[in-house]
Amino acid sequence: MPAVPLVTREDALRKIEEQFQLDLPMLKSLSQRFQELYDYGLANHGADMQMIPSFVTGVPNGSEKGTYLALDLGGTNLRVCEVTLDGKGGFTMKQEKYKVSDALKQGPARNLFDYMAQSVDTFLTDFGTASTDDELLLGFTFSFPVEQTALARGHLIHWTKGFNCPDAPGKDVVGLLQESLDRKHIKVRCNALVNDTVGALLAHAYHSNGALISAIFGTGTNGAYIEDISKIKKLKMAEGSIKHMVVNTEWGGFDDDRKALPVTVFDNRLDRESIRPRNHVFEKMISGMYLGELTRHVLVHLIDSLVLFDGFSSVVMNTQNGFDTAYMSAIEADKEEASSPQSATRKVLVETMQIPADKVSAEDVDTVRRVCKIVGTRAARLSSVAIAATLVQTNNVQSRGDGPDEGVKVGMDGSVIEFYPHFEERMREGLRDLLGEDAERRVKIGLAKDGSGVGAALGALQAAKQEASGHRVE
Ligand code: BGC
Repeated sequence: MPAVPLVTREDALRKIEEQFQLDLPMLKSLSQRFQELYDYGLANHGADMQMIPSFVTGVPNGSEKGTYLALDLGGTNLRVCEVTLDGKGGFTMKQEKYKVSDALKQGPARNLFDYMAQSVDTFLTDFGTASTDDELLLGFTFSFPVEQTALARGHLIHWTKGFNCPDAPGKDVVGLLQESLDRKHIKVRCNALVNDTVGALLAHAYHSNGALISAIFGTGTNGAYIEDISKIKKLKMAEGSIKHMVVNTEWGGFDDDRKALPVTVFDNRLDRESIRPRNHVFEKMISGMYLGELTRHVLVHLIDSLVLFDGFSSVVMNTQNGFDTAYMSAIEADKEEASSPQSATRKVLVETMQIPADKVSAEDVDTVRRVCKIVGTRAARLSSVAIAATLVQTNNVQSRGDGPDEGVKVGMDGSVIEFYPHFEERMREGLRDLLGEDAERRVKIGLAKDGSGVGAALGALQAAKQEASGHRVE
């Protein structure tokens, strides 16, 4: 006999919907809080949302040329690339991905940095290099919060996204990398350290002849933008010709003290079980590393309420991180009838999640689709708050000039913006709610694919230029 549900399916779903809903007053109060924390982070060191000066003082225009190495750590894989910029906004790239084991992610920093140096060596052995210079320059995309004190110097503040080498925080990550390269006698010099958002901004500007904002919606989330130097109050720099600097916001740490964020019990559970509880709560509501896990918590709750699968679960469903965000993408793209054996949702549930086939009804398929939509929509609307706040911060809600309005160029990268169905559309809806249709239309989103690789190369180029002109920014 089927189990008697503790609540009706509709009631259970309505309650979840209510908890995840972001109505206009809530969006507005979040946006207001964003503004306060932007100002606070620009004036103070040690904020949760750090607003890190990147020491990148200009963005490319597409005419840049040269061959550089790039090392990219911080997404799902480690990547080594060689990028050749053609000076016409285009590039060619050779690249190889290397897996980073959990042992490396959480063991001594030296092992991780030695592994990176080793990967650069393997790459050069396997592919050679197009560069004729004696010393190869390398841009390092390191996508974690780093207190940057020069273009090629930055101390790790703390890890995110499942990394946790305990002896690394406080250390200069360029120094650690260079020591590992030198120990192995690899003739490569790391001359630029860029966050992936900064890389995406540089790459998008190179490709589109300018950009103002960039955002990553991938394993983690973050944004960067070009700020007036006078507004970066915590940066003590001699008065000079520098007018702007790219700021890495680290918006994943927005409202970590939870004054404004409407966290649900599911968010709290996920956070409590995560590697760094009470840190990057906003990121945990938005990004690819966490959305699947959040959905899993909701599904398990519905199973326990006897609303789903007749109360049956599976080992995979009960396992932390057993439900990947990529499954949500497949489910949100599923247009089949809920009863169809061809339904991607059913396949995920039965074949991947190993829920007994006879326990998955058509209603269950529908319910799972609704849960993914609820969790995915909240993520996109929260993302719109970050973008809207950055438009306000840069005084770009309305056109500023008298000439034709070219809008605001925003470079985006990451698996969620690239592959998650309806993410951009839902984010745009949030922007319309917050700022109105005209402002939303001004946002010109471009995918800065490979931003981390191309951006690191552009960082290395910029650093070489600054060194050659004796114009070091520190
Ligand atoms: C990191 C950021 C990074 C973002 C996207 C976050 O966890 O703190 O530095 O830009 O992930 O990769």
